[in-house]
Amino acid sequence: MAEGATRRLVITLDGPAGSGKTTTAKAVAKRLGFRHLDSGALYRALTFALLQKGVPEEEWEGLGSEQLGALKIEVEVDADGDGVDIHLDGVLLTTALRSPEVTSCVSAVAGLPAVRAWLLGVQRSVGAHGNLVADGRDMGTVVFPDADVKIFLVAGLEERARRRLLQDTGREPTAVELQEEARRIEQRDQADRSRNHAPLRRPEGAVEVDTTGLSFEEQVALILRRVKGLTRLQGKV
Ligand code: CDP
Repeated sequence: MAEGATRRLVITLDGPAGSGKTTTAKAVAKRLGFRHLDSGALYRALTFALLQKGVPEEEWEGLGSEQLGALKIEVEVDADGDGVDIHLDGVLLTTALRSPEVTSCVSAVAGLPAVRAWLLGVQRSVGAHGNLVADGRDMGTVVFPDADVKIFLVAGLEERARRRLLQDTGREPTAVELQEEARRIEQRDQADRSRNHAPLRRPEGAVEVDTTGLSFEEQVALILRRVKGLTRLQGKV
C-alpha cells in the first residue's frame, strides 16, 4: 500500500499562476497514494463550456445555479481513483481546458459568486472520498479550511513565465515571449488577488514554499518532507 494511504488526510496547495501547483500536487498525490483535485480545471471547464455554447460575456454575471447546471458539466472521480474526470456533454475534457482563450477568460468566470458557490459543493464531494491533495487558489482558505497540511507555493514572476512556456511549447522561450507571458500571468494574478470572493491569498497556518531555483524533483521532495513533518507532529502518520 502507498505510504499514508491508511489515514484520511487533506493536503492543500495554493498559489499564483505558474507556481507549479498542479504538477506538484499531482506528483505529491501519486507518491502518497492520495487522490488529486485540480480545482483550476473546474473553473476552466465552466469557462470552456460558456465559450463553446456561445453564452455572451455580458450574461455571465447574471448566471445562476440553474443555468450553470444546464451547461451539462459532469465531474467524477476517475476509474483509477487517483484524480477527477470532467465531461462536457459526455465528452472528456483534457487539453481544451488549457487553450489561450480559456486562460484569458477564466479569471472573470472564477470571480463570479454563483460560479464559486456552485463549484464549492463539487469540490467538497471529491474531498469526501478520502485522502486528497487539492490545488488551486482557495483550497486552504475556503474549500478545505480544516485541511491537515496547507502549503502556499510561490516563485518569481520570470521563473513562473519560463516554466509555463516550457510546459506549453517544450522549448526555452525567447526574451519577448517571456516578457509577454509574464505580463499575462501578472494580470491574472492581479485579478485573482483582488476579487471580492475567495481571493488568492496565503491561508492562515500555511507553510510558504518558494520554488524559484528548485528543480521539480527537489520541489516535490521538499513538500513531501513538509507533509510528513507536519502530519507526524499532528500525530496522523
Ligand atoms: O495552472 P494555472 O495556475 O495557470 O491556473 P489554474 O490552476 O488552472 O486556474 C485557472 C484560474 O482558475 C485561476 O487563474 C483562477 O482565476 C481560477 N481558480 C480559482 O479562482 N480558484 C481555484 N481554487 C482554482 C482556480
